[in-house]
Amino acid sequence: MSQSREIRLVSRPAGTPTAANFETATVEVKAPGAGEVLVRNTFMSVDPYMRGRMTDRASYVPPFQIGEVLQGGAIGEVVESHAEGFAKGDLVSSFFGWRESFVAPAAALEKLPRQANVPDQAFLGVLGMPGLTGYAGLLEIGQPKEGETVFVSGGAGAVGSVVAQIAKIKGCTVVATAGSDAKCDWLRARGVDHAINYRTCGNLLDAVRTAVPKGIDVYFDNVGGEHLEVAIEMARPFARFAECGMISNYNDVEAAPGPRNVIQIVGKSLRIRGFIVSEFAAMRPQFLKDMMGWIADGKLAWEETIFDGVDKAPDAFIGLFSGGNTGKMLVRL
Ligand SMILES: NC(=O)c1ccc[n+]([C@@H]2O[C@H](COP(=O)([O-])OP(=O)(O)OC[C@H]3O[C@@H](n4cnc5c(N)ncnc54)[C@H](OP(=O)(O)O)[C@@H]3O)[C@@H](O)[C@H]2O)c1
Repeated sequence: MSQSREIRLVSRPAGTPTAANFETATVEVKAPGAGEVLVRNTFMSVDPYMRGRMTDRASYVPPFQIGEVLQGGAIGEVVESHAEGFAKGDLVSSFFGWRESFVAPAAALEKLPRQANVPDQAFLGVLGMPGLTGYAGLLEIGQPKEGETVFVSGGAGAVGSVVAQIAKIKGCTVVATAGSDAKCDWLRARGVDHAINYRTCGNLLDAVRTAVPKGIDVYFDNVGGEHLEVAIEMARPFARFAECGMISNYNDVEAAPGPRNVIQIVGKSLRIRGFIVSEFAAMRPQFLKDMMGWIADGKLAWEETIFDGVDKAPDAFIGLFSGGNTGKMLVRL
């Protein structure tokens, strides 16, 4: 028997989440039985979609329950195994999330291949769910062609930074937005043609129009709201929109008004398509192969922002909504 700290949801956020919505609890972790594995998490992920699960409504994933430990992606090391295929020291990913250690049946774990030139926690970011989201959403829905112009919002985040760099690899002109000058500098250093600080640029539509006066062929949306309206305005005929997320609306208490220019979807023959990454799970082998190749060739890089300690997980999560992260937001356990 050992102990583990975990984070529970104690109240549903009204608007932006606060520390008061969470509590840290200590629980006993039993010894693993037959077919079970004891795992000590090394990193856990906080992700914007978790905000949706804090609201009590039906969605593609069920809501978190009050008083229960929060779930989410994590990686960790096997401490003790009574299951075939898992040995002490193996690197595994799980979906038990906001806790230091746990016992689970082997079927609930995935063994990960450690990579020489990539840290383990990359499997929560650039090589994990956010990376696949950017890769699949851009390539399958955006269908970018060489010479086209791709616009990505939230460009310096976990998903957006992958999108921006893959669009460059595919020979596109890239315009990306981010919420600080430092994030924009990082994007430019990664080859992004036009990085716009949406907080300080003044009129966002003017800034995008100045950057790419001929318009955009692909929009990868992480932000929604004004960004989406600007993208519709700047879209060229037959532009493709990959609707990945709309973080600017996640903390809205009242439904936000839609883009005022939706009528242009008709005249410009726009294809606007939402998606959830699980739809593209079958692309994972090709995704990992491509990403490892681009990383080895120096064509794709990533950032991470790390909070230390499970008790800091709420701060890391809340920080997503104020731009506290460059690249993937992680908690080291
Ligand atoms: N469809 C799917 O399957 C799927 C999967 C994963 C993620 N997503 C979505 O993809 C988007 C990005 O996720 P991520 O994990 O990569 O997060 P992230 O971009 O790494 O982190 C969130 C970022 O959003 C920006 N942001 C926060 N509030 C904003 C606002 N009001 N207006 C504009 N920007 C704001 C902040 O950056 P700035 O400093 O730039 O403001 C913040 O750093 C989210 O919308 C998420 O829900 C969808």
